[in-house]
Amino acid sequence: MKTLKQAGEASATGNTRNEGDERPIGVFDSGIGGLTVAAALRQLLPEERIYYIGDTARVPYGGKSAQTIERYGFEISQMLLKQGAKMIVVACNTASALAVPALQRVLEAPVIGVISPGAAAAVAATRNGRVGVIGTRATVGSKAYEQAIHALNPGIHVVAQACPLLVPLIEEGWLEDALTTQVIERYLAPILSQDIDTLVLGCTHYPLLHKALEQQVGPNVVLVDSARNCAAEVMEILRGHGLSAPDGTKGGLQVTLTDPSVGFLGVAEAALGLKVGEVEIRPVP
Ligand code: DGL
Repeated sequence: MKTLKQAGEASATGNTRNEGDERPIGVFDSGIGGLTVAAALRQLLPEERIYYIGDTARVPYGGKSAQTIERYGFEISQMLLKQGAKMIVVACNTASALAVPALQRVLEAPVIGVISPGAAAAVAATRNGRVGVIGTRATVGSKAYEQAIHALNPGIHVVAQACPLLVPLIEEGWLEDALTTQVIERYLAPILSQDIDTLVLGCTHYPLLHKALEQQVGPNVVLVDSARNCAAEVMEILRGHGLSAPDGTKGGLQVTLTDPSVGFLGVAEAALGLKVGEVEIRPVP
């Protein structure tokens, strides 16, 4: 853990200039899901450079143990810090639920996850105080959303449902497919029967299924996700720590994968209108 602290310390001490900090924001997910957050960051903070790692060698994270997910979180954060990341955005709910508390304790660089921004979006959206959450098995099992929502409003009733088949369907690009619709229908039935008016997309992959999910929940349930709120929190952190990019900087997105993955980026590029340039392959050391 010491090496991680040192990496963060080294980068933090580099920030003594007033003219801004050109280093990239480090963002990671197990695969393409975190690009939904990267897209929100590009939109809100066009001057920032984003260094994104999709851990395609080990996707999906959602069925793995807490210990393994925490280890993955440290390994990928270390890769990001080695690339000079000035802060870490854990654009994965699973790693946010299970690795962010330890990353925040150990790393010197600011670390933010997507659970609290998602919880805040849900609390702001609900009118009847009944919120559904869908996510991976690990995220739902962690009860991180219940805790984050109750920290903001203990009176909100939360029902959660794990949807382990959705990430593989999304990574496969089956965003509008009869089979995906059937899977969604089966997963959502138990929570839709509980009079929820808000559904949290508690996995950064799920906004790619927005259309299919919206059709399923109907007009009386609002879909919320973390991306925009997370980007807003990143902006605050950068400003608060004097880490914002210098005015007039040309931002951009660098995508790195831990394993070459066919079709992986086309799905996100098409669905998010993101321009992903040359992709770098960098195995986890
Ligand atoms: N995008 C990740 C999340 O938000 C995905 C999960 C996975 O790899 O299972 O939880």
